[in-house]
Amino acid sequence: MKITVVGLGYVGTVSLACLGSRGHSVWGVDINQEKVNSLNRGLAPIIEPRLQETLTAAMAKGEIRVGTDIVEALGESEICFVSVATPSQKNGHIDSRHLLQACQQIAAALNSSRKKQIVAIRSSVLPTVLADVLVLFEREAPGLVDLCVNPEFLREGSAIADFEDPPFTIIGTDSPVAEAALRRLYSDLSAPVHVLPAREATLVKYASNAFHAMKVTFANEIGKVCQHMGISGEAVMEVFCKDTKLNISPSYLRPGFAFGGSCLPKDVRAIQYAARLCDTDLPLMRGVLESNTLVIKEVVQTVLESGVRRVALLGLSFKKHTDDLRESPFVEAAEQLIGKGIDLCIYDPNVSIARLTGANKEYINRTIPHLARLLVASMDEAVASADLVIVGHNYPGIEAVRANDAAYHLLDLTGQIQFVARAAAVTA
Ligand SMILES: NC(=O)c1ccc[n+]([C@@H]2O[C@H](COP(=O)([O-])OP(=O)(O)OC[C@H]3O[C@@H](n4cnc5c(N)ncnc54)[C@H](O)[C@@H]3O)[C@@H](O)[C@H]2O)c1
Repeated sequence: MKITVVGLGYVGTVSLACLGSRGHSVWGVDINQEKVNSLNRGLAPIIEPRLQETLTAAMAKGEIRVGTDIVEALGESEICFVSVATPSQKNGHIDSRHLLQACQQIAAALNSSRKKQIVAIRSSVLPTVLADVLVLFEREAPGLVDLCVNPEFLREGSAIADFEDPPFTIIGTDSPVAEAALRRLYSDLSAPVHVLPAREATLVKYASNAFHAMKVTFANEIGKVCQHMGISGEAVMEVFCKDTKLNISPSYLRPGFAFGGSCLPKDVRAIQYAARLCDTDLPLMRGVLESNTLVIKEVVQTVLESGVRRVALLGLSFKKHTDDLRESPFVEAAEQLIGKGIDLCIYDPNVSIARLTGANKEYINRTIPHLARLLVASMDEAVASADLVIVGHNYPGIEAVRANDAAYHLLDLTGQIQFVARAAAVTA
């Protein structure tokens, strides 16, 4: 394929070399004349294992051209990759000036040639910046650009190997033309291809990097506690990583409501206490509990801001198939709501049974008699007079509750938290 790569830094130069070595015709463009000169002399402008050999091989095939002129490069191009830098501003937001400038130049070139182009943003961008890029292309080159987001997952130090064998290929677009072209371009990679809306694709990149950063910090915090205790953190994490069912796995990695129960909060607190004994701090662990408390607070706030008084809470135990109420975030939310004068009605079949029989009877009557009194026998009874229903657990029959959107507002905590305003209220 005929490809342009705009921005020849780590991502751009690696793309140039790897795509060129696979027989694609690649035109690299950069505003930095020194980099362009270096590449034109056949020299990689950055240090990266295997880059020089890959570049030399691509150049020997005669598939690479490098320059500063976007107009010339786009003349023959089908896909234009944009891999300019998106550094941090002081406030943390990304500085999109290079990106918008590059897109402006691309748009001007396409507009003057009236040529269509697939533009794939390889730089890491937030959805707000992507929206600016979209507006720019619609304004400056209307109808000429099939835009997509194709984030890069290479790591410096193993960039060529990562380019050739990525964890996956992300194509963020609603353009069938862009999707087909990128699928064709990456067809020789064995990695799975995921096509999703462009805004979501941008966030896959940020979620990945945030997760990697969090993993490093998590391991460091565990290592720090271990070190202070004279334990091998390496040995602990070595075995920890062998659990691919819960630890290194998709478990616990979906957005939703707060965690709770008899173990997680207690054990996170205990490890923080152990750190304090060694005169050290674990800010990540501390943040975990703070963040969890915030989730509950925000749910309560959503209910209060809706202005309703009568609320049904469907779920009280910390998980669906248990009657365990210890440190349940639903108990915490219920108490905060009652404290704010909400008229609460609770349905939880497991807790209702436990209230009458079983080991938890005593706990319920002793610890949360004020909540136990609010328990009703059926979901219908709970929602009958509610202005807002909080779906905590997916009980059988919950779909009917969700579908009855004219009767009440719905606050669904069973996945990514969603507030759905009462249909009648929206119409009004
Ligand atoms: N470095 C990495 O390991 C890595 C990995 C994945 C994703 N990313 C993302 O990819 C993007 C690029 O990162 P990088 O490390 O390659 O950046 P970099 O700073 O190494 O290179 C950016 C290049 O873009 C050029 N440039 C700036 N404006 C230009 C314009 N208008 N026209 C042409 N060229 C222009 C610069 O001269 C520079 O050579 C960033 O968004 C980054 O977050 C980086």
